[in-house]
Amino acid sequence: MNIGIIVYSLTNHTLTAATRLKEKLSADEHEVTLERAETVGPAKPQFENAELKTKPPVDGYDALVFACPVRGGTIPSPMKRYLEQIPSLQDKKVACLVTHFFRREWGANQVLAAMQALCESKGATVRGTGDVRWFSLHRKQQIAQVVENVSQLYGS
Ligand SMILES: Cc1cc2nc3c(=O)[nH]c(=O)nc-3n(C[C@H](O)[C@H](O)[C@H](O)COP(=O)(O)O)c2cc1C
Repeated sequence: MNIGIIVYSLTNHTLTAATRLKEKLSADEHEVTLERAETVGPAKPQFENAELKTKPPVDGYDALVFACPVRGGTIPSPMKRYLEQIPSLQDKKVACLVTHFFRREWGANQVLAAMQALCESKGATVRGTGDVRWFSLHRKQQIAQVVENVSQLYGS
């Protein structure tokens, strides 16, 4: 399967988890591309309303994973704007992944639901979602679990 992983990440937590996922999906013999959605200017929370510098195209992928942090209980503005401008996700198998600080109920669940709704509004079938609570003592296990769960969605 041709899989695109599109990541928005400021301090590289989400990028790290997405990179692990790329390694696993590649080992499962999928063709995997990881691309970043980024804004112009400094990569800092106070500049997140800046214009998108990169808008990775989604054409050509059978499946997509969208990954970002939780930001004030919502989708970070760049990822939201990126998802909103995608023309169509019709027939794409999508998974959504977030990293976060607080318990799931304090933002991660809401962000995953919002990402899912945005992707479905573009015609995607959302196969699954996952989260990593970054400063948990069990972070390594959580990343491994998310990677395993997403890789199972796409088979090998
Ligand atoms: C401005 C700001 C707001 C945040 N808001 C939340 C939040 O509402 N809920 C939460 O669980 N974590 C929150 N976090 C923590 C980040 O989601 C977490 O550190 C994440 O792993 C960062 O990912 P990144 O390095 O890929 O950007 C916030 C972090 C920042 C800087």
